[in-house]
Amino acid sequence: MTTVIKGGRIVTASDSYYADIRIEGEKIAYIGKDLAVFDEDKIIDANGRWVIPGGIDPHVHMSLPFMGTVSKDDFDSGSAAALAGGTTMLFDFAIPPKGKSLVSAIEEWDGKANGKARCDYSYHSSITDWNEEIEREVPIVIEKYGINAFKIFTAYMGVYGIDDKAAFQAIKSVSRAGGLVSVHAVNGNVLVAMAEEFAATGRLDPIYHALSQPPEAEGEATHRVIKFAEISGSPIYIVHVSAKDSADEIAIGKKRGMAKVFGETCAQYLFLTQDLYELPNFEGSKYVLSPPLRPRSHCDALWKALQNHTIEIIGTDHCSFDFVGQKDMGRGDFRKIPNGLNGLEERLSMLYTYGVREGKISAERWVELCSTNASKIFGMYPKKGTIVIGADADIVLWDPDCDGIISAKTHKSRCDYNAYEGYRIKGRASTTFVRGQIAYENGEVKAEPGNGRFIKRSKFNPNCI
Ligand code: URP
Ligand code: ZN
Ligand code: ZN
Repeated sequence: MTTVIKGGRIVTASDSYYADIRIEGEKIAYIGKDLAVFDEDKIIDANGRWVIPGGIDPHVHMSLPFMGTVSKDDFDSGSAAALAGGTTMLFDFAIPPKGKSLVSAIEEWDGKANGKARCDYSYHSSITDWNEEIEREVPIVIEKYGINAFKIFTAYMGVYGIDDKAAFQAIKSVSRAGGLVSVHAVNGNVLVAMAEEFAATGRLDPIYHALSQPPEAEGEATHRVIKFAEISGSPIYIVHVSAKDSADEIAIGKKRGMAKVFGETCAQYLFLTQDLYELPNFEGSKYVLSPPLRPRSHCDALWKALQNHTIEIIGTDHCSFDFVGQKDMGRGDFRKIPNGLNGLEERLSMLYTYGVREGKISAERWVELCSTNASKIFGMYPKKGTIVIGADADIVLWDPDCDGIISAKTHKSRCDYNAYEGYRIKGRASTTFVRGQIAYENGEVKAEPGNGRFIKRSKFNPNCI
């Protein structure tokens, strides 16, 4: 099967130019001006459209058992949402309950993804305990399973969280084995103490979810784990940075240059703000996630961090829960509201509309932040995340002027609300290819459940970006 995409403007992390692309099978075979076409070729006219590498979302949760319920989107609906939004690969987290092995969690996640995913995927392996057995598994996870990143939590103590000693040992040991530790960095003890204090004094509305997770607690833990990386000579990746405090710590760590420090933020922290928690009728619960939304000044700081390369990746932490039947489990006590919201389908359009079109980031930087850097850091470049000869033909034809309004009425997620409801977007994916096949076109997901493939990745490369 050969396809020729003609007349589009190719945009990658490094440049943009007009050229045709010839796809043979699953790969990009040729790129050039006025490529010849043959009778058997399928020709796609991309005039007026941009041709970008498929988005890679480094941070999502499908069917996550969490806080007494299970997140709403599974690999089927979640990957449909991804494709509709121009994302061709996603990373979930294989999270073992304490006491269970890393490999058992990977196998459990395989059970959720196999036969369901419509786009390509991989996992980060979550370390929720640290002992000799887990330490022995780390090189196996990297080499046999092709998973080069491991998430630890300094919060959710008793469930997922590990203490400082374990965090330090995990960061060191993973690095020695050729991997990278990513951290949900916040001072979990401060959070618990503050939440208890609010609860004891009857302050239980959704806003107290945010007030019990102050930005300083995120900055403090970010500082701490960067120091662990420096002491042990290891790289470190901070997930879902929501605050100026943690972005500043990443900038300082990078400047010191004693460890390779990476930062990831998520779309919601650039657009949505803390005041949403005060919406009437418990609607504020729709925005309960961890870390929480912050006041606008933090969004501004994060945009700056994207501009000055403090933060290299934008994900979503897509972890959707229905308003009715899930979020409302926490009516009367913010501590019981399942944490998480959507974003997989909205990420590229929101960043394009309010980032690229408003001149905050260039088109090339948008591609880099939403695709290329994830491929580089997580060991897939140049197979994924760029448009070059030999790469997987994960390609999005982007309509740069298409007008739309985000709504739960039209989204592909199974969730009963959309955190970006009513946001106007100008620009969206019109056709999405995964490994040379049209997986989404003009509102319709074409890829079937099971078309997505698990992608094995290389060891972490300290010079990846
Ligand atoms: O609120 C969130 N982020 N839920 C998902 C779990 C996590 O910490 O990433
Ligand atoms: Zn997290
Ligand atoms: Zn997450």
